[in-house]
Amino acid sequence: MNQAVNSPFRYAGGKFYARKLILEYIPQHFSYVEPFAGGASIFFAKDKVQKNWLNDIDEDLVNVYLFIRDYPEKLIDTLKNEVATKERHNFYKNVFIPNNPLEKATRWYYLNRTSYSGIMNMRNCYWGYGDKYSMRPENWGRNILRTSQKLQNVRLTQLDFEEVIKQVEDNSFLFIDPPYFNADQDKFYNHSFSKECHYRLSNVLKNSGNRFQFLLTYDNSPEIQELYSWAKLIHEKEWNYTINRTDDQKKTKDVQDDIKKEATVKKGSRYKGREIFITNFALVTEGYTQLSLNYEYI
Ligand SMILES: C[S@@+](CC[C@H](N)C(=O)[O-])C[C@H]1O[C@@H](n2cnc3c(N)ncnc32)[C@H](O)[C@@H]1O
Repeated sequence: MNQAVNSPFRYAGGKFYARKLILEYIPQHFSYVEPFAGGASIFFAKDKVQKNWLNDIDEDLVNVYLFIRDYPEKLIDTLKNEVATKERHNFYKNVFIPNNPLEKATRWYYLNRTSYSGIMNMRNCYWGYGDKYSMRPENWGRNILRTSQKLQNVRLTQLDFEEVIKQVEDNSFLFIDPPYFNADQDKFYNHSFSKECHYRLSNVLKNSGNRFQFLLTYDNSPEIQELYSWAKLIHEKEWNYTINRTDDQKKTKDVQDDIKKEATVKKGSRYKGREIFITNFALVTEGYTQLSLNYEYI
């Protein structure tokens, strides 16, 4: 399957709501790479090309992708009688100890589909499911199969971004979505991303970016503008999105405050995302990836 589907995951910092804006920046390409894949909402929202590579340093995340790509039926089978309840969420989070990669993938998938904002750092992973706004367990199997089809022949790795960027084929297109520069991203992800990592990213892009085209998304800060003053374009962009909440999330005020930092204007449960888009190429108006969205699940 080549066409657009939704990301199988809810993911902190995911670009689901910015898909339309981002796809407008993607030129024609034959080789597509995401060094910081996370929920890979842009890969899933666009058509697949000849070569596709998703990478993330998070071992558990890559393990689920591998299961979905290679053994979807096994994962569907272990999840088939699941119900989405706070008790099952607590069981998977606090009691269940996975003994093998399949059990790890099952636990991860269950917690992700029932978590608040897709925060998969266990210290901040809270029950966040609602029948009206979440994908129901009876649809998980179908979602896993559809995702598996899209992941066929996709290269999946668990490497540090620098190794990926150094290895990409000439003339590839890279969508680069690192953790934010200014928010405390250790609350969301399992691997910390220090200031040194941000500088390392800028250096590797500066030194090898003449071999490929990239779009990099970041929180807007003077340091980032300075760090990328060598780039071709820096555009400030904004979009709307909604956060759904259950009672438990009152406990997670700190984390919510961090999410709101990313979403600076609050209007009821609707927020505004604000980021900068940085490219090493100038935009032309023709030949860009068109959006064919599927709004069935978020
Ligand atoms: C902002 S999220 C990506 C979100 C994604 N674009 C989406 O739509 O869901 C950043 C990702 O970078 C990953 N990451 C953190 N440090 C990394 C590193 N050194 N190398 C590769 N990936 C890393 C995190 O695990 C996280 O999944």
